[in-house]
Amino acid sequence: MPFFPHGLAAIAVSPRRNPDYLAKMSSSPDAEIVHFDNVGLRYGSDREVLSDVSFTLHPGSFYFLTGASGAGKTSLLKLLYLAQRPSRGVIRMFGTDAITLPRNRLPGLRRRLGVVFQDFRLVPHLSAFDNVALPLRVVGVTERELAKPVADMLEWVGLGERAHARPATLSGGEQQRVAIARAVIGRPDLLVADEPTGNVDPEMAVKLLRLFEALNRLGTTVVVATHDVHLLRKVPESLIMRLDKGRLSDPTGALRYPPRRPAVPA
Ligand SMILES: Nc1ncnc2c1ncn2[C@@H]1O[C@H](COP(=O)(O)OP(=O)(O)OP(=O)(O)O)[C@@H](O)[C@H]1O
Ligand SMILES: [Mg+2]
Repeated sequence: MPFFPHGLAAIAVSPRRNPDYLAKMSSSPDAEIVHFDNVGLRYGSDREVLSDVSFTLHPGSFYFLTGASGAGKTSLLKLLYLAQRPSRGVIRMFGTDAITLPRNRLPGLRRRLGVVFQDFRLVPHLSAFDNVALPLRVVGVTERELAKPVADMLEWVGLGERAHARPATLSGGEQQRVAIARAVIGRPDLLVADEPTGNVDPEMAVKLLRLFEALNRLGTTVVVATHDVHLLRKVPESLIMRLDKGRLSDPTGALRYPPRRPAVPA
């Protein structure tokens, strides 16, 4: 399914009743979206900024990646969204070895990802609407089909009135919301969001987290990097990974096998 099938109403559907979600949740317990084994990263000849990073992301889980500024969160996410190759170790994504993958197969893998960049990276000459529509146009969704979901999504993030504005005329928080709308509109298998609420007020931050949770309940695996520890408490079902000077720790057992998972009521 290329996008929220019935506009935004679909993301409000109870996860327990959504067949897509149930199908993913009932997949085998060792199913993985991403696997890192002993990954290290150094930029140039400098010291390693990530060392001995090993973890598995399980389908349908919600992860926070936390740690102080400079701990390596963005660096780890860059490996996750395939913008950077590690200096050592193994990375498998969707069952594919992401390190030895030929370049021409990278776009196919990237299409399964939604990314919210720390610095937004909106296309400057496109309107908010066209930025959000981009992932749908890339996969061939027609203008007729995409008009309503894109408009609904902009409305949801509070930008219904700014649909035709270019990024340069939007505030930082507004640009951030366009970036989030663009990342989630295609219902990716994996959403990677780097400080996605860093520029909005606390009320909007909670609203955006609800959007990630709704997407997660439809089956998307979510990874949100943040140094804001208050945010972690807002998603009770989340698993927490913490980076400290490039090394990963595991305060909620996120990396344990199998991961702790809250009971799903009948
Ligand atoms: N392109 C680069 N070249 C060299 N060093 C880099 C590069 N990008 C990041 N670093 C270094 O890697 C370390 C980790 O940076 P990173 O941006 O991953 O941290 P972060 O946890 O995302 O920080 P923040 O919370 O401030 O966003 C830092 O010491 C940083 O200076
Ligand atoms: Mg960062």
